[in-house]
Amino acid sequence: MKGSIADDALQIIPQGGVLTDNGLIVEAGDFETLRKSNPNAELEEISGDHVLIPGFVDCHTHLCFAGSRAKDYALRIAGKSYLEIAKSGGGIWDSVTQTRKASKDELVDLLLRRIDQHTKNGVTTIEVKSGYGLRVEEEIKQLKAIKEASAKSKADLVPTCLATHILPKDFNGPVEEYLELILNKLLPKIKQENLANRVDIFIEDGAFSAADAACYLEVAKKMSFDITVHADQFSAGGSQVAVSVGAVSADHLEASGDEEINLLAASETVAVALPGASLGLGMGFAPARKLLNAGACLAIASDWNPGSAPMGDLLMQASILSAYEKLTTAETFAALSFRAAKALNLYDRGVLEKGKLADMQAYPCNDYREMLYHQGKLKPIKVYKKGEMI
Ligand code: NIG
Ligand code: FE
Repeated sequence: MKGSIADDALQIIPQGGVLTDNGLIVEAGDFETLRKSNPNAELEEISGDHVLIPGFVDCHTHLCFAGSRAKDYALRIAGKSYLEIAKSGGGIWDSVTQTRKASKDELVDLLLRRIDQHTKNGVTTIEVKSGYGLRVEEEIKQLKAIKEASAKSKADLVPTCLATHILPKDFNGPVEEYLELILNKLLPKIKQENLANRVDIFIEDGAFSAADAACYLEVAKKMSFDITVHADQFSAGGSQVAVSVGAVSADHLEASGDEEINLLAASETVAVALPGASLGLGMGFAPARKLLNAGACLAIASDWNPGSAPMGDLLMQASILSAYEKLTTAETFAALSFRAAKALNLYDRGVLEKGKLADMQAYPCNDYREMLYHQGKLKPIKVYKKGEMI
């Protein structure tokens, strides 16, 4: 599950087939053998070249937002930094203002459109964070929108509470008081209404300090939430907190140095690289190669959000990261499938083997290496969720 993987570890089945039942994989193997031993199975025989792989798991997105931050982007490419823009009234707070103005139904519509785009591109499990509400009722509105979209969409959505994205500008009080409010008023409600079982926090200058985050996360953990952290994006510190609270994942890591890399490698916390944010901000990538060499479990996610990562094309981003960081094809696909599932504490998907969910996608090519070679331009022609074509 952890560390580097050579391409010859990939188990490739030529002329392969997958037998599914009730949304699950019963067997993956040689098509003719499967056909003969299951004469009554309904057949979907494919002509022409196809490469079938597991559906992608995008373990970090902020898809539930309204409005655009094209203005921020223009400022950034003209030379202003993400943190400077945030300080002068743009950034996350701008999206909070725009998202608060949207109704729940509008958010559901926006979400469904983005989810549709993602599923067409082979993403069958999508984590979605709140974090543009930043007050109790607005965070609940976002999480309810995610729940409704989940019921209407073919993909599985995994909701996460990110009420601790930044300290909201309209909160009159110290940071401890805001964290108390979230712990005492919001998280119990989320539990009660079954809106999420994961909690995230952004540890950074201009967001939350490592010390405040550690106290907050310890309590959230006692309330039996899974923990994930926006860590080491611009400065190191968050990954240390993530590892010490036993977070399922530490995400971003662009600023992680050797110390952080070794800590993550020695832990069960999945290291999640977000190349879409590096591309959107024009900054360096997370040290994915070093993380794998040190023995970490590496996942890759899109971070799709209106600010730092507006593009949202997971395969394209992963292809680019693999080219710059020198990741093998096996490492890249593992990072988009079963390792990303581990970051969500899911062990029932991401591999085409007996007992796993029949979430699959087929690409029009005859060699698995074509997919990264085309750097995201080659799209799946068939996508299956729990055995059903979507
Ligand atoms: O993962 N870094 C913090 N949060 C998001 C960006 C959200 C935004 O800019 O709206 C991220 O990059
Ligand atoms: Fe993010």
